Parts: sequence; structure tokens; C-alpha cells
Amino acid sequence: MIQSLRGTKDIFGQEMVYWHHLEGIAKNILQRANYQEIRTPILEATELFARGIGETTDIVNKEMYTFLSKGEESITLRPEGTAGVVRAYIQNKLYGGVERLWYMGQMFRYERPQKGRQRQFHQLGVEVLGSSDPRADAEVVTIAYEILQALGLKNLVVSLNSVGDSTDRGQYRQALVDYFTPYRTDLDPDSQNRLDRNPLRILDSKDPKTQEICQAAPSILDYLQLESRKRFDRVQAHLRDLRVEFTIDPRLVRGLDYYTHTAFEIQSKDLGAQSAVCGGGRYDKLVEELGGTDTPAVGWAMGLERLVLLLESLATLAPNPIDFYIVSRGEKAEAYALIVSQKLRGANLRIEMDLTGAKFDKQLKRAAQSGAKGALILGDSEAETQTLQVKWLAESRQETTTIEELIRSLPR
Ligand code: HAM
Repeated sequence: MIQSLRGTKDIFGQEMVYWHHLEGIAKNILQRANYQEIRTPILEATELFARGIGETTDIVNKEMYTFLSKGEESITLRPEGTAGVVRAYIQNKLYGGVERLWYMGQMFRYERPQKGRQRQFHQLGVEVLGSSDPRADAEVVTIAYEILQALGLKNLVVSLNSVGDSTDRGQYRQALVDYFTPYRTDLDPDSQNRLDRNPLRILDSKDPKTQEICQAAPSILDYLQLESRKRFDRVQAHLRDLRVEFTIDPRLVRGLDYYTHTAFEIQSKDLGAQSAVCGGGRYDKLVEELGGTDTPAVGWAMGLERLVLLLESLATLAPNPIDFYIVSRGEKAEAYALIVSQKLRGANLRIEMDLTGAKFDKQLKRAAQSGAKGALILGDSEAETQTLQVKWLAESRQETTTIEELIRSLPR
């Protein structure tokens, strides 16, 4: 039997109820903040991610699904949404004011699958392009927080950091190299590599010994110049005004290289090892880096599989119930059932028509299991008189009516 690929998953049935719930809540909040949806391709030129996310990141180095197309172009299944949105922003010349965008879709990373970590997963993200105002940072963090709260999630920790601008980071980078060099051979092999190429990434290592060495490493916050420091203070002040609780984590370096100033993550204490439900920050140089005009920007993305795991652990959501289950038997009745279901759908009702042609009692049993308010029982005599037998399933009351009367009798 052909199986789905490792790290990919079918989503259906009851799980879909959680997905729809989640999408509904998020879209509602994003609409109220006047964010516009953008849908960009899943396939992009490999160079977009190599330049955008950074050549020395794990994503670009180890995790991309990259292949040569028939025309010998190097193509990659998007591992994240920001680079594609920025490409679209530049290509479609969306410059001018402030663009507030949101997106949702599949992302692909060749990672070791585990609970909450897949190779094909979904992100919901926002990107605000064209503003360097610290209020934009506060707005996006707050919207993420509001979505998670509206979903009823508890035990969330918002971690906030500033990774400064390139000058701040240049000096910090040197301080890290000076600090880690004497420990070089004690670091895990990946971190030894990073020491030469991208020392900030060492702070992200999961290796216990490296983590221990990181404890006493210099803090980025001591390397922020006055302007960067002031900016970070303003973001924090706004978040306090908005009652978003956060903790400062000077070791928070994200897995992508494009961040400047604000970097943040939201973790859930109710998830296992894969606890980050949302990550993002400011990326003021990315638009320029990808060939556009100098444009500041800030955004985040949430992992939807992780949110669904949390929702499932919170409460059982009932699927939307159907209104009527149509049972019919006999040639005329079965043809009539099709017409009845079309008319009732047209009146905005949720209908399921039994297609089995089984005996009435069998079909009625299924009607009872369907959760419908009523069963519509149609035999050849109903077809002839254009009537319906309605059996109200909760009350086991049965009556004869017509389609029009039934629609009129229902509460609007
Ligand atoms: P990221 O931190 O790489 O950031 O991913 C954001 C979120 O996607 C993570 O916090 C996690 O919830 C989810 N996620 C990542 N990898 C996986 C996986 N393999 N399986 C399941 N969920 C996963 C970004 O992607 C940036 N583009 C965010 C951003 C937008 N920054 C600025 N704008």
C-alpha cells in the first residue's frame, strides 16, 4: 500500500473542526485590524530563500526541499512565508504606504519529525511592510497574542529580545567569538562550525554542554547602541500599555538571519519539546537584500499543527450539526429526495441525503446517528403529493408538511 510520506499527514474528520475553528478566529481578528490576505506560490526560486533566510541557517543548509526543474532551474518548496511575501511586495510594487498582509499555507522543511514537528506543516503569518514605527512591532505582537487568547490558550510565554542593527550585531558577534573561542573544543560540532560562520546561532544550540557554556556568554542587550536601546524600550512600553505580558530573553536568536531589532517568540508550556507556537520579528533589511527599495518590515508566523494540538487538548468541539437527514425509498421517492435536498440547501439549510436505498428503519437509524434535527421521510406517496414526513428526532414527533411550510416554520 502506498503510504503518505514521513512527516506529512492527512487532515480530515473531527480534526478539521479544530482547523476551521482556528482559521475562523484568526481571520476575524486579522480582518478587524484590516490586514489583507496574500497568496504566494509554494514554489519559488531557491535563491530567494538562500539570500533571504541566510546561507548559514539550518533551514537553508539542511532543511530545504530543493530540486532542478525540467528547465534546469533550481526550485525550492517554500520553508517559510516571509521571503515569498517580500518577493511579491517588490515584484508587484506594493510600495507607498504601509502594507498589512496575512497568509496561511503549507510550508516544507526536511526536519526530523516528532510531535508538533512535521516536514509539511502549515503557518499562519502576518507581515507589515513600510513602517519602522515601534508601534508596528507592538501591533503585530499584540495581534498574535490576541489570536492565541481568543483560542482559549493558557500558559503562554511571550519572549522578547532585540538583536539590534548590523552595527550592534557586528560588535556583539566579535564579543561572542572572543567568548566562545577558548571553549571551541567543548562545543558541539555544529556550534564549532557556527563559531566561524554565524556565532549568534550558537545561542540556539540544543546541546546541553553548549547550553551550559552559553549561560555566561555576553548579552546582546549590552551591545545595543543608544538608538536601538531606545527603540527596544518603546516596543516594551507599548506592550505594557496593551497588557501583553512578556519576558525579556537576551538569548533569543531566531532560526532565520533576516531579523533586526525586535525578535520574539511565543511558547506554550502545554506542548512538549516543540513548544514555539509563534515566532517573528523585525526585518528592516530584507526588502533591500532581495532587490527592492529600502523598506522596514515586521511580522510573525504561527505553526498551525501546534495550535491544533493545543485546541484538541482543551475541549471537544462539536462539528456543525446538519439540519435534516433525508431518507427515501422507491424510484419516485428517491428522485424527489434529490429535489427536496436541493431546495432546502437553497434555503440555507444543511442537508444530508441517504444514498443507500436501504430499508426505512436502517436509514432512520443513520438519521438518528447523524445528529440532525429532523429526518425527512419520503416514500412514493410523498413524491406524488409533494409532501414530506418530518420526524423531529429529539422529540420523536412526526408530522406531514411541505417544503415551503417546513422552511417557513424554522426559526430564522
Ligand atoms: P519560524 O520560527 O521558523 O519563523 O516558524 C514560525 C512557527 O512555525 C514556529 O514557531 C512553529 O510554530 C512553526 N513551525 C516551524 N517549523 C515547523 C515544523 N517543522 N513543523 C510544525 N511547525 C513548525 C518563520 O518561519 C518566519 N517566517 C516568521 C516571520 C514572519 N518572521 C517575520 N515574519
